[in-house]
Amino acid sequence: MALEKLSQSVVSVGVQDWHRRLFDELIPLPEGTSYNAYFIKGSNATALIDTVDPSKDKELLDNLDKLGITKLDYVVANHAEQDHSGVIPLVLKSYPEARVVTNAKCKSMLQQLLLIPEDRFMVISDGETISLGNLTLEFYDMPWVHWPETMVTFLREDRILFSCDFFGSHLASSSLFEEVNETVISSAKRYFAEIMMPFSSTIRNHLKKVEELSPALIAPSHGPIHQDPSVIVSQYKAWTSSSKKPYVIIPFVSMHGSTRAMVDHLVAVLTERKIRVKPYDLTVTDIGELAIDLVDSAVLILGVPTVLGGPHPVALNAAAIVNALRPTIPFVGLIGSFGWGGNTEKVISESLKSLKSELLETVLISGYPDEADLEKLNKLADLIASKVKQIQ
Ligand code: FEO
Repeated sequence: MALEKLSQSVVSVGVQDWHRRLFDELIPLPEGTSYNAYFIKGSNATALIDTVDPSKDKELLDNLDKLGITKLDYVVANHAEQDHSGVIPLVLKSYPEARVVTNAKCKSMLQQLLLIPEDRFMVISDGETISLGNLTLEFYDMPWVHWPETMVTFLREDRILFSCDFFGSHLASSSLFEEVNETVISSAKRYFAEIMMPFSSTIRNHLKKVEELSPALIAPSHGPIHQDPSVIVSQYKAWTSSSKKPYVIIPFVSMHGSTRAMVDHLVAVLTERKIRVKPYDLTVTDIGELAIDLVDSAVLILGVPTVLGGPHPVALNAAAIVNALRPTIPFVGLIGSFGWGGNTEKVISESLKSLKSELLETVLISGYPDEADLEKLNKLADLIASKVKQIQ
């Protein structure tokens, strides 16, 4: 990709990954991703902010070559995860005088993950600075965006915040200076939902620090640069808040149509009651779509058939993902069909134990729903409608 200037002294040297479709062998990437890295030239010293995924090592080194960089003083590691740190060993080999600047926790993780020797590190503390001559790097710990060691780097004179994963998005694009549009915001929300949502309360505090710094630009390590930081900061405030929308989501699996019939009926009666509702067939749904809706929905109803005496594994996997993402969803319920018994309710409720939601009445039925079963779903719909009204 073309090198792009962020200011007189800062150039983007990262890489687009247009065709990657899965991250962590789990997270779908419908828009690809990028690994952004930034080179800063001060009057006395130079710095590289983060590196790229190891699969793109050659591109990063080529970009540094294109800039004619013969001496690199510092490689700042804001985060130890390999999609940003993975090329540090090669950079250190190419630039023997360079030292890795990071906090103590990140140093320890980098030593474990990448076997970087002790003498290549320069450990800094929260609030510490490094002078590049006419430019100053400030470092601030921001743990849990999304690992415990994460930090951000602020270029004081240009007021650029290098936030690594924080405010990132998995979105490949031909320029880091994308205008804010629906794709940019929805990619950032998807990223928040899949990566940052479990740490919402911590992030709310970090947002205060970001506002104090008052950056002119936020330059994350995935996706576009935020040219008006107030836009993404206000989105993060909304996404990390506890306020919810009157919206019901129903992820489900159905083997022979019984659970699907229950879901269809519940969707129909909720629709009659003017409640906004969205069913997801988990066998075809991108789990990221579900994650996005978990950010601000009020009610989650899982549709789970029983197989081999327990919950269908696809539904159980969805429950595990919901549990790991820890949405602050106010109400959760379970519906589904079984053949002759099983422990579906017990296993699902244990799988969702990190949620602090109010549990709605479970409707598990034997076989295909008859009139009496449909009536139970009508009552559940009444209950959901009353709960949704509480948050309107
Ligand atoms: Fe983009 Fe947590 O790495």
